[in-house]
Amino acid sequence: MTPIYPVIWRDDRVLLIDQTLLPTQYALVEINDYQDMVKAIKTMIVRGAPAIGVAAAYGMYLGAREINTQQRDTFLTQLEIVAQKLRETRPTAVNLFWAISQMLKTASESLGTVEEIKHNLLITAQNIQKQDLQTCQNIGNNGLEILANKPEKLTILTHCNAGALATAGYGTALGVIRSLWTAKRLAGVYADETRPRLQGAKLTAWECVQEGIPVTVITDNMAAHCMKKGLIDAVIVGADRIAANGDTANKIGTYGLAVISKMHQVPFYVAAPLSTVDFELETGEKIPIEERHPSEIYQVGHTRLCPEGVNYYNPAFDVTPAELITAIITEEKVVKPIDLLAFKE
Ligand code: MRU
Repeated sequence: MTPIYPVIWRDDRVLLIDQTLLPTQYALVEINDYQDMVKAIKTMIVRGAPAIGVAAAYGMYLGAREINTQQRDTFLTQLEIVAQKLRETRPTAVNLFWAISQMLKTASESLGTVEEIKHNLLITAQNIQKQDLQTCQNIGNNGLEILANKPEKLTILTHCNAGALATAGYGTALGVIRSLWTAKRLAGVYADETRPRLQGAKLTAWECVQEGIPVTVITDNMAAHCMKKGLIDAVIVGADRIAANGDTANKIGTYGLAVISKMHQVPFYVAAPLSTVDFELETGEKIPIEERHPSEIYQVGHTRLCPEGVNYYNPAFDVTPAELITAIITEEKVVKPIDLLAFKE
């Protein structure tokens, strides 16, 4: 199977898999400047918390190399403007803010000429990408441990896309699923279609097909029925931001899934890198929730679904309270939500 890398650094520019075209078309988009990266993140050509972080890191480098000065202070001031434009793209996934602050830290701590700072920024972006890939593989391995006592082969339900496309490669929730598949412990995957943007039906299903993993797509409102029928052994989802107490923001619909998992005694796992934990926020109450354009609800493709004259509410994420989460699978170890604090630096 060919690995899937949503963000590629090649020949001095970034190539992104255009995730708005999948699964019907696989195409790479060239990103040569930071303004194009801002647009790509906003329009979800690249999406998924860790992938947004990697893309933003390269966006910072692209912005840095456009800055035409030899003065260190002027350079740092202009780099902050680039950072702010990138921060304004999407509010919920903390990896975006984390990656930007890593890049700013590199710039402010680099001694030497502006050219040397730019060089160091590229190295940091590449390291963020490499580290994320390794992190996801570790999450995948740790996920195997937790499912070791379960029946022979498992059927996992997942929501949205927390796969290779949403990370530097491999995936978080789908990374655990990949590891189970490689270990011959996976019977198959149920992929919630994930209204309104259908990341499950389009992206998770596509990734599973690439890998030969048996995948059954269901509409979001079928999950409870599937659990009641005993079709699901565990739920594994990704995360966009986890508060210090373990409350977890993820794609809209995740909270409902956690509620019905509890009702049916199906274990509910969050798989996420520690860079997704925002230790500044005590609880999930203060996690900013992105609201997207109502057209995501009232039309599918070019077909309008709803009559004129109705109101819309389109939050892109919801927050699952820590008490509904069986455990969080991180790259370090599997922890109860309450034990996350041990990782605070
Ligand atoms: O709006 P999206 O597609 O960026 O939302 C993605 C998700 O909610 C993922 O589950 C999350 O980012 C984890 S990705 C490893």
